[in-house]
Amino acid sequence: MEKISIIGAGSWGSGLAKIIGDNGYPVMMYDVNENTVNEINAFHTNKSKLPVGTLSEAVVATTDLSQAIRFGDLIILVVPTAVIRTVIHQINEVIESKKIFVNASKGLEPDSFKRVSEIVDEEIDPRYREGFVALTGPSLAEEVINQMLTLVTASSKNNAHAEMVQRIFSNQTYFRVYTISDLVGAEVCGSLKNIIAMAAGMLTGLGYGDNTRAALITRALVEIKRIAMAMGAEEKTIYGLAGLGDLIVTCTSPRSRNFTAGYKIGSGKDLEQTLSEMTMVVEGARTVVAAHQYIQKYDIYAPIIEAVYDVVYLKKDPSERILQLMQNSLKPE
Ligand SMILES: NC(=O)c1ccc[n+]([C@@H]2O[C@H](COP(=O)([O-])OP(=O)(O)OC[C@H]3O[C@@H](n4cnc5c(N)ncnc54)[C@H](O)[C@@H]3O)[C@@H](O)[C@H]2O)c1
Repeated sequence: MEKISIIGAGSWGSGLAKIIGDNGYPVMMYDVNENTVNEINAFHTNKSKLPVGTLSEAVVATTDLSQAIRFGDLIILVVPTAVIRTVIHQINEVIESKKIFVNASKGLEPDSFKRVSEIVDEEIDPRYREGFVALTGPSLAEEVINQMLTLVTASSKNNAHAEMVQRIFSNQTYFRVYTISDLVGAEVCGSLKNIIAMAAGMLTGLGYGDNTRAALITRALVEIKRIAMAMGAEEKTIYGLAGLGDLIVTCTSPRSRNFTAGYKIGSGKDLEQTLSEMTMVVEGARTVVAAHQYIQKYDIYAPIIEAVYDVVYLKKDPSERILQLMQNSLKPE
């Protein structure tokens, strides 16, 4: 039986630890936050990140990165993407044997537009890289920990690795994993949907309703498709769990922190105030910078993503910026 290390004991790291701990796998979590680590070891809970649910006793935690990396055959990355290159670099300094890397974080790196799989390729010595799998799809941690039925994807260039992750994470009650081979599509769709979730929150904060949200999801999917396919994604991924599935959940659930951040901005708060009030990572606020740079560089038409960038970073008034979208020239769908 494989041993699993989870790097990042936040809400999603804890949600994933819950699943694989319940599936009977030995799990070691690593985090820089000593209080979190102590709480997991003493009480099998992580109340500030996931107020409900307890982890299996097979889940232990540490603040010692080399201990965590030695432990696992699989290394699951679940830290905010703002720190992920640094953390992967630190892993490379302590790693001593080949591992399969599984990424569950969602974001693109500004300036380089790199996906996490590319950052792993750059930072980890090839002698210690057995393979890479992305675990993405519609999966809010709060629902997973409450054992609400959840379907996600494991994507890898190596089907055997995707199937290994599928087997380790799937159970026959609430968590089911599908394999896909389109790693680029899974990583890009999972990252871009957080920007659209911020837009959905803004629209709700401004008082718009379900017509508007349905229009947003549908038109945003077209923008995601343009960008993802320019980066090398396959079209069918856009309409699967990793694409449309993840977009729907994050644009419709107030449990999504990207939606919540957008809601606050739409209700009149600025980005700094909003982010300072959030105790959990808002990936859309960072990925919108990478997406904006990519759109500009490769001349891709993505007006919704550009509008989110303008509101978040150029401090444009959200209601005026949305009306501007309505005044674009009329065209066929
Ligand atoms: N929460 C969800 O429902 C969910 C679902 C799917 C994917 N994700 C993705 O998972 C990633 C993590 O999200 P989250 O919700 O768990 O965030 P979170 O804010 O709840 O937790 C992040 C954790 O990372 C730790 N951390 C920060 N810097 C670190 C470092 N340098 N070294 C080690 N640990 C560090 C923090 O202490 C914290 O425990 C994000 O990319 C998010 O988009 C989240």
